[in-house]
Amino acid sequence: MAVNLKGRHFLRVADFSTEELQYLLDLSKQLKNDKFTKREKPNMAGKNVVLLFQKDSTRTRCAFEVGAMDQGANVTYIGPSGSHMGTKESIADTARVLSRMYDGIEFRGNEHQIVEDLAKYSHVPVWNGLTDEWHPTQMLADYLTIFEARGTLLGTKFAYFGDARNNMAHSYIIMAAKFGVDMRIGAPKELWPSQEIQDMAAELNEQTGGSLLLTEDAKVAADGANVITTDVWVSMGEPKEVWKERIELLLPYQVNSELISYASDDFIFLHCLPAFHDLETQVARDIKETFDVGENGLEVTNDVFESKHSYAFQEAENRLHTIKAIMVATIGNI
Ligand code: CP
Ligand code: NVA
Repeated sequence: MAVNLKGRHFLRVADFSTEELQYLLDLSKQLKNDKFTKREKPNMAGKNVVLLFQKDSTRTRCAFEVGAMDQGANVTYIGPSGSHMGTKESIADTARVLSRMYDGIEFRGNEHQIVEDLAKYSHVPVWNGLTDEWHPTQMLADYLTIFEARGTLLGTKFAYFGDARNNMAHSYIIMAAKFGVDMRIGAPKELWPSQEIQDMAAELNEQTGGSLLLTEDAKVAADGANVITTDVWVSMGEPKEVWKERIELLLPYQVNSELISYASDDFIFLHCLPAFHDLETQVARDIKETFDVGENGLEVTNDVFESKHSYAFQEAENRLHTIKAIMVATIGNI
């Protein structure tokens, strides 16, 4: 069956079939190739897109901007304090105004319900650029990177270490279940995903043959893994007071040379970025000074981050090609 995503919102991986996700991955690959062989066509000429960011961003913002511009569209960026949304104007009214001016709306913010409300009242596609619960655009970049590095998903053992209740972990769990992947979570019980997320994955895994293992034993999660990934221990929007507890809970799950010794010899390391892998950031230095940890990295050590196994920057570049594919598929002239 042909896939047609015209006019669709892109809010969660869970809202798409495996076939539709595969279509977006194939389109990303094609658009990436078109760009580098100078055969890219402006499929979004004459379109206008608006980017609403209630949280900071480097990759997502730039991927939407460059992706839209590459495809001939015009872009408006509205930062955390750049509009009335949420202060003087409701989400519903904002959606009804913006969708009369723009062809597509990107939103990054806090509760996932906000982006659902935007989509409900918008007449044009809304793309989720990250909420507290989900980060769907990142999944396409990660899976495109895995396809590029490994050629296939077949037999892939995918291990995530860290806070398994956050947007990245949720998205990885559902994406793996969509593609029938052997997904392992290495985390303390306190940070395991909710029963609701586990049930969503179980239902999908029954259809696709995938699996989800939750374990407090990091070695078990890493055993034979082909993909090792982690995320910041404290996500955007969380108070800095949680650092102390997170460090205590997650230090045993740090991706370091000992942990990767259990992985497959040719494993790849992914990180959505930004990553705390050295002391070159103010936050990392503050953590070091306050808690006396992180000299050589927090969620990942610098040797792993900088190793030949690390595909983090290829993954970051793939944000561009995959976000472009989402825009082209939903509002482009293809
Ligand atoms: N990975 C990711 O979403 O990066 P940004 O926060 O820079 O957009
Ligand atoms: N879990 C992280 C992902 C950043 C891309 C956060 O929400 O801050």
